[in-house]
Amino acid sequence: MTILADTATEAAIALADRYAAHNYSPLPVVAASAEGAWITDVDGRRYLDCLAAYSAVNFGHRNPEITATAHAQLDTVTLVSRAFHSDKLGPFCAALARLCGKDMVLPMNSGAEAVESALKVARKWGAEVKGVPAGRANIIVADNNFHGRTISIVSFSSDPVARNGFGPFTPGFRSVPFGDAAGLARAIDGDTVAVLLEPIQGEAGIIVPPDDYLPAVRALCSEHDVLLIADEIQSGLARTGHTLACDRWGVVPDVYLLGKALGGGVVPLSAVVADRDILGVLRPGEHGSTFGGNPLAAAIGSTVVSILERGEFQARSAELGAHLHGRLEDMIGDGVVAVRGMGLWAGVDVDPSLGTGKEMSLRLADRGVLVKDTHGSTLRFAPPLVVTREEIDWAVRQFAAALREAGP
Ligand SMILES: Cc1ncc(COP(=O)(O)O)c(C=O)c1O
Repeated sequence: MTILADTATEAAIALADRYAAHNYSPLPVVAASAEGAWITDVDGRRYLDCLAAYSAVNFGHRNPEITATAHAQLDTVTLVSRAFHSDKLGPFCAALARLCGKDMVLPMNSGAEAVESALKVARKWGAEVKGVPAGRANIIVADNNFHGRTISIVSFSSDPVARNGFGPFTPGFRSVPFGDAAGLARAIDGDTVAVLLEPIQGEAGIIVPPDDYLPAVRALCSEHDVLLIADEIQSGLARTGHTLACDRWGVVPDVYLLGKALGGGVVPLSAVVADRDILGVLRPGEHGSTFGGNPLAAAIGSTVVSILERGEFQARSAELGAHLHGRLEDMIGDGVVAVRGMGLWAGVDVDPSLGTGKEMSLRLADRGVLVKDTHGSTLRFAPPLVVTREEIDWAVRQFAAALREAGP
């Protein structure tokens, strides 16, 4: 088939449209290369990346320390499967467990796999440790959650687009309002094995709960012998100015779920991190993944952990995040209705009369700034944490100009 197009961008999009499944609706920008906080497209245009691959590129595109590790490991050994040991797995798991203050790590690949793995671990823990009768375990989640796209995960989604047509669904989940500890308390019963939450709901629009919420949930889980599972796949690893978003409230969950930035923007690498009395319920053959914890991913993960141990990206995110939030809050009343978030992670509700979030993203892309809408008229700004103050100011000026352009 010949695809006729005037520009390299049009040709690339036409080819993908013809042969790639339409499960996304991307902006019409075709990346050819990227460095730091910038993406260059196939026609040579440059864009400031204010999405950072949904926080998978927290440390910048092609972060030199991470790519050096990747290059070295590519020349050594990349995959042996878990049928054998590799010299990179132990050091990675030890380093990540230490970073999280836990005993053990279960390495997987995608974020959804980490969530699925934690659901299995929680059910097994419920049966073997808590003593919940077989087949009766329930897990409590929050309304408007986003934890991935597998059948079990969409079984407890409140988004009709994620669910419609995909039933029958996995039973055993209860959904309660996010931010309401009393509502959660009412949902807990003797068969509840876990509460699964994003500490800050990302896809829902960067929703930060009230300050007393997570501490109250922690107390409820301890009181009722229920595992608190924090999905930090998007909120974790320096995005909020903290290593883990839970740190903001001094809350220590029983289980951390990590992904995205853990793979340094190079490989899919996710993890379930918990103490031995929880992860120890898994025995050989009960769970696994051919690529999970492979030497390439483990080497990169170790470098990511050592970067996080230095704390420089957490500090950057806190400082530049305060600056970004200040600049965006100044725009409230001038096309911006509300700003939420923490660190270099901002959800911005745009006046709906100025257009949808998608339309505003297109206007911003025309001005060289890449953002993504979440729902309705909400945009998210989440640049790689290498972004500079000047680049943030420039992006905010482009945003203000795009809002004026959309105005009456
Ligand atoms: C909080 C959270 N959990 C899980 C996932 C799923 O991760 P993945 O797309 O790698 O499966 C995402 C993805 O956006 C997420 O934001």
